[in-house]
Amino acid sequence: MIGPETAAWAELSGLAEEGAGADVAAAFKSDPTRERRYTRQVAGLLLDLSHQRIDQRIFDALIDLASEVDIPGAFRAMFAGEKINTTEDRAALHAALRQDTGDVVGGADVERLALEGRERMLAFAESVRSGNRFDTIINIGIGGSDLGPAMATAALKGFTKKALKVRFVSNVDAVALHDVLEESDPEQTLFIICSKTFTTLETLANAERAKAWLNKHLGGSNVSAHFAAVSMNESAMDSFGVHREQRFRVWDWVGGRYSVWSAIGLSLAIAIGAESFKKFLAGARAMDRHTLSASLDQNLPVLLALAGIWNINFQKISTLAVLPYTDRLARFPAFLQQLEMESNGKSTLRDGSPVRCATAPVVWGEPGNNAQHSFFQLLHQGGMLAALDVLLVRRSPVGDDEGATLALANGLAQIETFTVGQVGGTHRVHPGSRPTSVLVLESLTPETLGALIALYEHKVYAQSVVWGINAFDQFGVELGKKIGHTTLAALKASGKVITLSSVRERLEALRG
Ligand code: F6P
Repeated sequence: MIGPETAAWAELSGLAEEGAGADVAAAFKSDPTRERRYTRQVAGLLLDLSHQRIDQRIFDALIDLASEVDIPGAFRAMFAGEKINTTEDRAALHAALRQDTGDVVGGADVERLALEGRERMLAFAESVRSGNRFDTIINIGIGGSDLGPAMATAALKGFTKKALKVRFVSNVDAVALHDVLEESDPEQTLFIICSKTFTTLETLANAERAKAWLNKHLGGSNVSAHFAAVSMNESAMDSFGVHREQRFRVWDWVGGRYSVWSAIGLSLAIAIGAESFKKFLAGARAMDRHTLSASLDQNLPVLLALAGIWNINFQKISTLAVLPYTDRLARFPAFLQQLEMESNGKSTLRDGSPVRCATAPVVWGEPGNNAQHSFFQLLHQGGMLAALDVLLVRRSPVGDDEGATLALANGLAQIETFTVGQVGGTHRVHPGSRPTSVLVLESLTPETLGALIALYEHKVYAQSVVWGINAFDQFGVELGKKIGHTTLAALKASGKVITLSSVRERLEALRG
């Protein structure tokens, strides 16, 4: 059964129509226990939903909704390795990548592959990190082969080896690679080609440019020693000339946007080292165990998912602004854009029929403190509502607790203003009751980052279960990739000066 077919959905519709939960400021005034009632804590993370437009009837109906669509059963199916990626007939076993020996997520074969793959990847990462062969690591990848490792490496900068430069190149226009190569010594540079398919135009173009740069500076000698690769595509790695001992596998039961736990995270593992990478996995594992064991009304991913369902499907709010109050998570909104919108930006149910309700929101965001000076005006007084995820970190990652206190003060002040609003003069009215989820990390460590990412992975999956869609395929991005290849070939073949009309002609010709 999917959400719109449940009794709870009908009840929630009724509650929304009567405007239940709408006045959050009044709710705080009338109930001093509110914050405690809607706050949960696990794995170093605190989730406070008291600033959402909910009351106890709405909360209870949302829990009923999660129960009627059997979210616990859906998680059991995922962890058991069932083929929940129905349109591609695959399992979705990113959780298997962070388990311990004996957890047997997805079955014995998957466990063996995951543990052996991890051990081999971490051994290589340590050899690079502790050796003096390379001082620059350049990850070439895009989408899930870039966003996760790049975000996590930035977030965990305090745990990286200072002597190592770890850079991420993704865009196809050569600018990013050019700018990184300008500051790199070819003798000391290791490229990691990250691509599950090893067919992504942007990644192959940058990898070929990197090879040409090495050939130019090293005279072709031993260029292949400067490449590692992470892919499913052995023959493509053969063709590119990647040494077998510098190749690392990923599998089709790990989606790109869920793959930072795998060898796709090699750049991160080199940056922070094997021990911190294992702590990163342990944080996610703690969130996995919580997700599988906690009752629905205590379950952080389920509660974060349900807050989103209430905002999207019943408050009709179609965007989610992610506002981390630490510069170390500046790339977290971008990471979540792919995780949420590539997973749940769908209009077809698992059975192929049209969806029965709105699905993924438009996810956007910036570091909260900077956003206060750019788009908070709209969030406070604009006509278009956004749901807000405010992330706070209590302790400074750089030991400057005065700085952390300033950021916390700003974050808490904004949450207060979003909630309470202001009834002042005409142009100074703040309506308040802006729906906000508050996530607090004691500090930003490999463990808490791992738990945070797993929290959102499971939130996204739980929402897909309510909506009845497949969170693990991405047919919507494959057509563009295909046309990209043929358009490039056509533009190269035509030899024409690239003008808008020539592109349009080619596209019309392609469409036949
Ligand atoms: O954006 C489409 C997509 O397939 C993503 O799902 C994936 O993370 C990205 O492209 C890169 O794909 P690959 O790892 O195969 O290069």
